[in-house]
Amino acid sequence: MLIKLPKASDCHESDVTPESLYFSRRSLLGGALVGIAASSLPRWASADDAARYADVEAGRAPNWFAEKLPGTRWQVVTVKDEAITPFKDATHYNNFYEFGTDKGDPAANAGSLKTEPWSVVIDGEVAKPGRYALEDFMKPYELEERTYRLRCVEAWSMVIPWIGFPISALLKQVEPTSKAKYIRFETLQDPKSMPGQRSSFGLIDWPYVEGLRLDEAMNPLAILAVGMYGRELPNQNGAPLRLVVPWKYGFKSVKSIVRISLVSEQPKTTWQSIAAEEYGFYANVNPTVDHPRWTQARERRLPSGLFSPNVRETQMFNGYSDEVASLYSNLDLRKNY
Ligand code: MTE
Repeated sequence: MLIKLPKASDCHESDVTPESLYFSRRSLLGGALVGIAASSLPRWASADDAARYADVEAGRAPNWFAEKLPGTRWQVVTVKDEAITPFKDATHYNNFYEFGTDKGDPAANAGSLKTEPWSVVIDGEVAKPGRYALEDFMKPYELEERTYRLRCVEAWSMVIPWIGFPISALLKQVEPTSKAKYIRFETLQDPKSMPGQRSSFGLIDWPYVEGLRLDEAMNPLAILAVGMYGRELPNQNGAPLRLVVPWKYGFKSVKSIVRISLVSEQPKTTWQSIAAEEYGFYANVNPTVDHPRWTQARERRLPSGLFSPNVRETQMFNGYSDEVASLYSNLDLRKNY
């Protein structure tokens, strides 16, 4: 991310959205508003489910996920008039440095990640700390489908239908103490299964760490995801549990989480530690504050190729200003990038 600017040749013309998928999404989403309106939206009929993600490879969902899927609240948040990124792009153009630094490395190498059994530690400033097997950790939460824009700091973007639950629901369960001001997330550290952690690429001090202010984490748009495109997360996308914060640059959305800590001080996050002048703690998508080495005013929406770069204007807070701008009313966003 730090070192390489995306190349136009990284995506190919042949990766265009399949027409059937594109049109089925458009007709389904055409009338839907961006926003949170779960209760008013119908669940999918099962025939529609199958047609909706026709290009999606079958996964091997763990039992707990398969059991929860039928009760999922579909289309709780949608994106109007923007096509869903084809599954192939979302799963073969990734950043997951634990598996290598090229965009294709995570898909090629993340098969070695063992996601079952998986446990998550909750600790720090909480009334109910503990280590939970993922299936127990997930028990209290109803899954929701949230289709969000994902804007990488490298100036490419996608639209991805995630399946997850709001972090606010987790915080209600674990009961942060009055000292908790931030939430810190940590990725698995396991050099045996993560070749990037064994490599001589020495910039990152593993494990990968990210964080949010507590009020940011409480915002209804901030979710922990366990699935995408109607199935469980592929390993390269951060299985089995990842953060998704759609108004922030993608590097905030930490993958394969094993520890969630409530803390009183702003956590030291991975990219901020590597280059604080380029990657801030907030990392809110902001077309008016450029990265020191490139503009953030525009983005390449995947799939994009040499002859159809598919460039669009970047929106403030990635298009989620109505939902999140008030979180930053007292903050100078030029200083707090
Ligand atoms: N999480 C970990 N653990 N390691 C990473 O290298 N990359 C981040 C983020 N989460 C990263 C990570 C970056 S830079 C981006 S843009 C998103 O994951 C990409 O998510 P995607 O590959 O699912 O599109």
